[in-house]
Amino acid sequence: MSLADSLADIVWDEQGMPQSTAFGDKYFCRSSGYDESVYVCCQSNALRERFLALSSAEGGTFTILETGFGTGLDFCSVWQLWRETAPRSWRLHFISVELYPLAVEHLTRALAFWPVLAPQAAALAAQYTPSPGQIKSFLFDEDRVTLTVVFRHVQEALSLVKTAGLAPEGVDVVLLDGFAPSKNPEMWSDHVFDGVAALSRKGTTLTTFTVAGFVRRGLTDRGFVIRKIPGLGGKKHVLSAFFDPRSFLQSET
Ligand SMILES: C[S@@+](CC[C@H](N)C(=O)[O-])C[C@H]1O[C@@H](n2cnc3c(N)ncnc32)[C@H](O)[C@@H]1O
Repeated sequence: MSLADSLADIVWDEQGMPQSTAFGDKYFCRSSGYDESVYVCCQSNALRERFLALSSAEGGTFTILETGFGTGLDFCSVWQLWRETAPRSWRLHFISVELYPLAVEHLTRALAFWPVLAPQAAALAAQYTPSPGQIKSFLFDEDRVTLTVVFRHVQEALSLVKTAGLAPEGVDVVLLDGFAPSKNPEMWSDHVFDGVAALSRKGTTLTTFTVAGFVRRGLTDRGFVIRKIPGLGGKKHVLSAFFDPRSFLQSET
């Protein structure tokens, strides 16, 4: 199979927005995509407060796991905040998974919607190489930011994150994405919830755009304490959660 066959097949809709042909769904909302990304990924995980609270006297790695790299919008939003707030002694490791990567020119065109992210978009486009089947790391900001993309099916990719030791101490934050559950159920399967729970530790926070009942149950059954919070743009609610394995043990007894 050629590289072109493995890349995402997209169309640009009448608003000039990228849409997946295979899934019949959009990557983000034209009017509020960036605001939604900041709200769901950064604000709802209290990232500003958590980045500011990292001790500059110590070093370490703050690890974020995302399902569905897409255009890189969420990565760029988090990275922008990291640049503004995190001490230089800390490193951000953003791990994402992607089975149908966008060609670099499509990623560039999509991110051009958000001029506020121009520095991140340019740096990302200069390095990003869709590499189906592989695990690729890209380094930014003098190695203070690492983006690792596992270019595999989400189920396999999450197992690989674990077995390859990409997050040896578990992850701090999970961003669950992957088109609407009704359009892409494989991204929201029990296998995926298992994989995410296996990479979480007490206090790991999780947010997602969907509040579908089976997603809430799947996460609750694996130790996430969830709540619906107000959404932004067209969404009435989004989901915010934290991992507490005790909640799972208690519900078992
Ligand atoms: C809504 S988009 C993600 C948007 C992204 N978070 C961003 O910031 O642009 C969903 C992504 O999930 C990817 N995806 C869909 N099914 C997948 C699968 N089974 N395994 C891995 N990635 C998948 C799609 O190719 C798409 O890029």
